[in-house]
Amino acid sequence: MKLGRLNHVGVATPSIADSIVHYRDVMGATKIHEPFDLPDQWVKVCFVDTPGPDGALRGTQIELIEPLPGNTSIASFLEKNPAGGQHHLCYEVPDIHAAKAEFEVMGKRVLGEPRIGAHGTLIFFVHPRDMQGILTEIMEVPEGEH
Ligand code: CO
Repeated sequence: MKLGRLNHVGVATPSIADSIVHYRDVMGATKIHEPFDLPDQWVKVCFVDTPGPDGALRGTQIELIEPLPGNTSIASFLEKNPAGGQHHLCYEVPDIHAAKAEFEVMGKRVLGEPRIGAHGTLIFFVHPRDMQGILTEIMEVPEGEH
């Protein structure tokens, strides 16, 4: 497994609008992207940038996730954590298919086939019970950023 950058921390929230206020006013975020729906995953998503080291454009992001009507997984997470909370960590890898094969060889449960995620690149998730309790998203590095 070739560990890459921590791309984002997924945070479930009952209200992206309220979370935007929090990250702007409490945390001082200056770059908050426009929220958008990912209808095939039944979620609304909003990225909050943190500055990269040494002025790099790409710091680690916070991925705010709000369930759309009909959502089950995020909705049940919010039933257990009504105020919201950390939902997953996402790491970049250079080759998504190689990473999937490597996890499977190690006996880690990969949840489904690689699919296009919120960043428009291929992602998959690995089961938290095989990952020290953390739902782990693996994401191919965006094209041109290798
Ligand atoms: Co994510």
